[in-house]
Amino acid sequence: MGNFMLGIETSCDDTSIALVDRRGNVEAIETVSQYAIHSEFGGVYPELASRAHLEAILPIIESVMAKAKVTPLELAGIGVTRGPGLMGSLLVGLSTAQALGMAWSVPVYGVNHLRGHICSVDLEVKRLDYPAIVLLISGGHTLLAHMTNKETYELMGTTRDDSVGECYDKVARTLGLGMPGGPAIDRLAATGEPKIKFPRPMIKSGYEFSFSGLKSSVSRHVETHKDWDVNDVAASFVEACVDVLSSKVLNAISDKKPKTLAVVGGVAASPQMRARMKGICDETGVTLCLPPIKWSTDNAGMIAMAAWDYIDKGIVTDLEPSPNLRLDQA
Ligand code: KG4
Ligand code: ZN
Repeated sequence: MGNFMLGIETSCDDTSIALVDRRGNVEAIETVSQYAIHSEFGGVYPELASRAHLEAILPIIESVMAKAKVTPLELAGIGVTRGPGLMGSLLVGLSTAQALGMAWSVPVYGVNHLRGHICSVDLEVKRLDYPAIVLLISGGHTLLAHMTNKETYELMGTTRDDSVGECYDKVARTLGLGMPGGPAIDRLAATGEPKIKFPRPMIKSGYEFSFSGLKSSVSRHVETHKDWDVNDVAASFVEACVDVLSSKVLNAISDKKPKTLAVVGGVAASPQMRARMKGICDETGVTLCLPPIKWSTDNAGMIAMAAWDYIDKGIVTDLEPSPNLRLDQA
């Protein structure tokens, strides 16, 4: 078997290709973001996304293979995101992977993007240990899961409306900041004071989340206060998000007594989020597993890493795009 897994990620608005070895070392990775294409629409425009993936994907694969000086003969396989995500975007990655798999005679593994995010914590250094609580906070998802071992993904709760990343992006738009919203809000929040009392939606309601009320509350504040300060609004908003997420994580830790807490997805790049989760872990004696910041957001490294896992567990999936794939489906 070859030494490298080629990862392909095209589920949303990033075309990402990576070569990862079995221990999680990233030999080469390139990610092309489509922010510039979608920014004028205030969200991802699906048809433009698939077109941009189609233009970008083959040159990036060529460049990543050349950079790492890896030939097709050295590949153990190709891991490609099969869902969840946008149908047209997934199709570009899946059909490219199948064509290359056939041409190069290497197996192709259809990977669940959510499981990919969880595997991001094992890139470069193996971190995850079981039982684990997973907090997945991204643009597409917000969920808490319990893993008693590496095969079991028990969903504890998810969001009833917006994801936390979506909320960051919508609030960023309200505040007149560009895309992606998360990093811009974090930067402003760092010098603001969290003195506005925004709501903490569903903070006491089990493991379910809701973020649309918080987003509306920020819009109302900005509309009704002429002298609003962007740094204070950002800091107060971030504090509300972090309060809700950390309260549920604390409950999950006391409920399930895990060894590790994995915090993954784009919002796990937030320094405020990282600091609060570290505080919780220091307090409770749980080991915190975070992906390197650069691999918190969507990337093909985590997809290649997950594909190694699929080989180890003998998981075979089909290569149909699956836009609504759940965490408990491979
Ligand atoms: O994981 P990801 O790249 O894509 C999905 O799977 O959805 O997450 C993207 C989300 C966006 O909403 C973006 O605003 C947010 O992650 N994000 C951040 C930061 N960097 C990206 N949110 C907070 N702080 C950050 N530094
Ligand atoms: Zn993602």
